[in-house]
Amino acid sequence: MKHSLLALTLAAGGLSLNAAAEMDTSYYNDHYCTTCHGADGGGSEGVQAPRLAGMEPWYLKRQLEHFRAGIRGTHKEDFQGTEMQPMAAKLSDDSIADLVQWVGTWKYMPTPVTIAGNAEAGKALYATCASCHGTSGEGNAALGAPALAGQNDWYLVTQLQNFKAGYRGKDPQDTYGAQMGPMAASLADEAAINNVVSYINTLGR
Ligand code: HEC
Ligand code: HEC
Repeated sequence: MKHSLLALTLAAGGLSLNAAAEMDTSYYNDHYCTTCHGADGGGSEGVQAPRLAGMEPWYLKRQLEHFRAGIRGTHKEDFQGTEMQPMAAKLSDDSIADLVQWVGTWKYMPTPVTIAGNAEAGKALYATCASCHGTSGEGNAALGAPALAGQNDWYLVTQLQNFKAGYRGKDPQDTYGAQMGPMAASLADEAAINNVVSYINTLGR
């Protein structure tokens, strides 16, 4: 279900890409991100594309490079990642630098709460996460761990499920993903995932 919806949006994205190409043939326009990530970069649950506005430049750059190299988004069960991977495949180093700068101008806006979990129970689980992602979910550049506070909760849930199942973070070159895999595996079940993300929802930004 979700997958066919994504494919549909992908087709729609392709259409507007063509339209953009017709308008300006002299310049390869890679500013098609908002098609899926939302006009304000705040994320779109319908296509499962997360918020980019407010993302740390170093994290954005690494993810684009990892998608481009197929280090992320190539596991066949990673339905969302495999939608994103081709979007990065043709980017040059220059266009990645340009995108990081462009996305950096987008204004962060709070994300709505969409999941129900027990934040109190999640607080205890988050103690482990805090050592890398920070006590306020603010992220840690030195450790390569991104901010979690303020990210779409449905996206955090999917990523934790994907890390846990080994759909993300298993590529031999994905040294950062390799650190995160066992952490997601330590969350016993769906309830634990919802609880820890519910706690992250309380951290604000
Ligand atoms: C066809 C829809 C689509 C388009 C167009 C698209 N994306 Fe994505 N993007 C997604 C989806 C879906 C995900 C979630 C992937 C996952 O679960 O691993 C994603 C994930 C990402 C992530 C990972 C975020 C994180 O927190 O790890 C980044 C970064 C990203 N996209 C940047 C971009 C940029 C920059 C562009 C424009 C060049 C772009 N995307 C264009 C659908 C799209
Ligand atoms: C040892 C350090 C470490 C710990 C502890 C840790 N993480 Fe992570 N986490 C990372 C790193 C590094 C990444 C970036 C992976 C990548 O680049 O793909 C990450 C990525 C993530 C992502 C994906 C974010 C995105 O935007 O795509 C989520 C969600 C996440 N961690 C949640 C958690 C939760 C919840 C816990 C506690 C149960 C936790 N992490 C514990 C290091 C850690």
